[in-house]
Amino acid sequence: MDAIVADLDEQRHPFHVAIENWQHDMNIGSIVRSANAFAADTVQIVGRRRWNKRGAMVTDRYQHVEHREDVESLVAWARAEGIPIIAIDNVPGCVPMETFDWPERCVMLFGQEGPGLSAEAIDAAEAVVEITQYGSTRSINASAAAAVAMYSWVTKHSPLVPRVGGPAN
Ligand SMILES: C[S@@+](CC[C@H](N)C(=O)[O-])C[C@H]1O[C@@H](n2cnc3c(N)ncnc32)[C@H](O)[C@@H]1O
Repeated sequence: MDAIVADLDEQRHPFHVAIENWQHDMNIGSIVRSANAFAADTVQIVGRRRWNKRGAMVTDRYQHVEHREDVESLVAWARAEGIPIIAIDNVPGCVPMETFDWPERCVMLFGQEGPGLSAEAIDAAEAVVEITQYGSTRSINASAAAAVAMYSWVTKHSPLVPRVGGPAN
């Protein structure tokens, strides 16, 4: 296991994934699994320390997962690291992900089923980004949103994605 983690550490992408965890959101396991699949640097659990590991399907063994007491602690950590927080939610004033210029290093911050992102989380973000929807539902599942966001980042920045006109910068 250590060898696999060390191998993954060689090729992790410089984005983090943070999720607010005030109500034991069942999506967290699934988000950890996607973070592993997209080689995220680290998953930051914000709020309650305990999270439901079921959806992770043991991928959490290979994924760095850290805990932040609250949004304030996440902000302090991100500032110290020099990493901008990008809130992902469809709230007034957000910008569409399809045209968003993802910073290479960033923390994608997701909200929970029901309440969505807290006002504090939105205030802490450098940008608020939405996944454009076309149907009648108000939102998609948080773990689905996280997978879309990670995929969007990867298409912009991963050196493994071939690009027209030469290698990725
Ligand atoms: C089920 S949503 C609930 C909040 C949502 N704003 C609402 O009004 O229903 C839970 C989380 O999933 C993510 N999410 C869901 N749909 C999204 C979308 N279309 N664009 C960006 N994020 C979305 C956000 O992180 C959100 O906080």
